Amino acid sequence: MYLGLDVGTSGVKAVLEDEAGALVASASRPLALSHPQPLWSEQNPDHWVEAVIGAVDDLARAHPRETAAVSGIGLSGQMHGATLLGRDGRPLRPAILWNDGRSQAECAELERRCPELHAIAGNLAMPGFTAPKLVWVAKHEPKVFSEVAKVLLPKAYVRYRLSGEMVEDMSDAAGTLWLDVGARRWSQTLLAATGLGLDHMPRLVEGNEPSAVLSRELAQRWGMAANVVIAGGAGDNAASAIGLGAITPGDAFLSLGTSGVLFRVTDRFAPAPESAVHAFCHALGGLWHQMGVMLSAAASLSWLARILEAPEAVLLAPLGASVERPSPVQFLPYLDGERTPHNDAHAAGAFVGLRSAASRGDLVQAVLEGVVFAARDMLGALGRSDREITELDLVGGGSRSPLWAQIMADVLGVTVHRVEEGEVGAAIGASRLGRLAATGAAPADVCRKPQRLQSFEPRAPQRAAYDDAYAHWRRLYPALKECNS
Ligand code: XUL
Repeated sequence: MYLGLDVGTSGVKAVLEDEAGALVASASRPLALSHPQPLWSEQNPDHWVEAVIGAVDDLARAHPRETAAVSGIGLSGQMHGATLLGRDGRPLRPAILWNDGRSQAECAELERRCPELHAIAGNLAMPGFTAPKLVWVAKHEPKVFSEVAKVLLPKAYVRYRLSGEMVEDMSDAAGTLWLDVGARRWSQTLLAATGLGLDHMPRLVEGNEPSAVLSRELAQRWGMAANVVIAGGAGDNAASAIGLGAITPGDAFLSLGTSGVLFRVTDRFAPAPESAVHAFCHALGGLWHQMGVMLSAAASLSWLARILEAPEAVLLAPLGASVERPSPVQFLPYLDGERTPHNDAHAAGAFVGLRSAASRGDLVQAVLEGVVFAARDMLGALGRSDREITELDLVGGGSRSPLWAQIMADVLGVTVHRVEEGEVGAAIGASRLGRLAATGAAPADVCRKPQRLQSFEPRAPQRAAYDDAYAHWRRLYPALKECNS
């Protein structure tokens, strides 16, 4: 039996997978976000650990025999979050997360200090990444900075608390801006530009390699054996790729989680920083990936549901399974700024085109379409390099909605598939990495593609109408940019 743990932004998911790769059980615990100032986004690292332990406690209570049979654990996590530890291994301040926009000025500063940054890290300096956050801390919280002994990413902090080991995998490490992504090792040049050294970094392993052993205390708590292996694991997007069997160059998928991600596997380090495309290591040695990242995807719909005080399902129901024409209202989903293609922490959300006739359904549809238009921007950004994308698997919480999938097919002009267990893809990817680390099995034997539940083809009349609507939508960001800076 294998245990996958995904430390997300809105919650933690834990899944049990058996030797045949079937999902046996899952549990989840929510997490809260804090925004103490505009553009800031933080979480208490100990809450991740409490949520992980709580979710596994739930599994152990409901499925004691299966939980006790776990021999491998894999971790997946929200990427980039700066978790700063002092010499005693305790967090020095709340973690600064992937969707935090405070360090835009520090990005420019970092690029000035280190002209080789794009070539080594393969990415633009963006406020979501880890290094600029440390430049911000050095400037605004110098005492904290002087006490930093180690910088971990969210799932590495959880691993530390589960095992006592400080280790990071390549896919997550690539999102720090301290990794030489082509060579898959820490870069002293990039670390020095942030005032840090190799000592501040955890040990590196590939995602499918063993990284640590579960602590005796937790093994006893869950009735497990003494030698449960913890795999390197992966950043949540690379973990989703493992869960989808996306391990062959050219494989692509779209994740509609809190963030939105268009992910494509590459057989080499393929940076394309000019369009704010991310070029990171995959979770398996010898593979890399490119991705476009939007900061508020399913988060945009959750936001609307929150302010309208109605569950998402209630908002979506009146729209049915497909819409015939674009909403008369348009929405920019930049609630937390945007990465691909704008790299602009100050970009803001907007509804445009409101008239007194506008209905609640128009607004809901506008939110779904705004997120898909942003995905089309990402497709354009990725399309300029390498291979064409002609079909996409859809994962993440947003993949529950057939309506969103149909809009996706109509707007992007590609076939979109909803897949089995698409909502827990990253946790399943994590459990598969746990299995690879515990057994040494070949990735191709374990990382199989899931069953496709439903496929959505682009419809010609809607496609043409959406081409016009997208052309209009694209004019909104430049037109509003000045108002938001
Ligand atoms: C990727 C990114 C997000 C987070 C969300 O670069 O920032 O997808 O990983 O969990």
